[in-house]
Amino acid sequence: MGDPRIVTVPDAAALAEAGADVVAATIAAAPAASVVVATGTTPMGLYEELAARRRSGLVDTDAITAIQLDEYLGLAPDDRRTLFGWMRRSFLHPLAIEGPRVLRLPLDGDLPAACAAFDRALEARGGIDLAILGLGTNGHLGFNEPPTERWAPTRAVTLTDATIRANARYWGKIADVPSRAVTIGLGPLLSARAILLVVSGAAKHAIVRAALEGPVGPEVPASFLRESGAEVTVVVDHAAWEGEEPT
Ligand code: F6R
Repeated sequence: MGDPRIVTVPDAAALAEAGADVVAATIAAAPAASVVVATGTTPMGLYEELAARRRSGLVDTDAITAIQLDEYLGLAPDDRRTLFGWMRRSFLHPLAIEGPRVLRLPLDGDLPAACAAFDRALEARGGIDLAILGLGTNGHLGFNEPPTERWAPTRAVTLTDATIRANARYWGKIADVPSRAVTIGLGPLLSARAILLVVSGAAKHAIVRAALEGPVGPEVPASFLRESGAEVTVVVDHAAWEGEEPT
């Protein structure tokens, strides 16, 4: 509600702390919170910090539900490169979240029908309490690639060249990156009660400024954060906010 709250921090360690503070506050207020979980590099320190707080008894994740944000299409379920595998290693396992407390995206069958059913199920269980998101260098949230309208539902998408190039670092070479994926839509994401966007590194400078200060529209999907009903917190490190590494 209102403008995003922008929290600038000096470095990745401070980003992990500040991000974990937001997640911990959500869970303290709503122990059975439904939390959308991004993968990608940026939130990894945050997840480690949360796990450390859980081990110290400072955060209780025993009742939260974790919701998958996005996934590649066309991989074998046991492929280590699935985003679900990454989510399991970085979030579900360290926080001991399992069974019915994990909500996965549909990946086969009649995808349009299955994605619509996913959105209905999300709504029926009370919607998203907190979406933890990273920012693509092209302005994507999840795999809501530009252009995406603010009401876009959960659906199968074709990845842009920019995203395929950016993700090639995880795959070895560009030709190996899957070109299709499923993502929670901007519509359901922007309907969350709270959104935490974490942004790190000088390579994100131009896009984080465009998202928060440029025109709002489908060409920069993250710009719609400024028109969502959610309580939006953007935790951004110095390098991303200023476009330069700290001296
Ligand atoms: C990952 C995801 C992506 C990433 C974004 C930033 O599940 O949905 O939108 O959050 O591409 O990735 P990193 O953090 O690796 O720069």
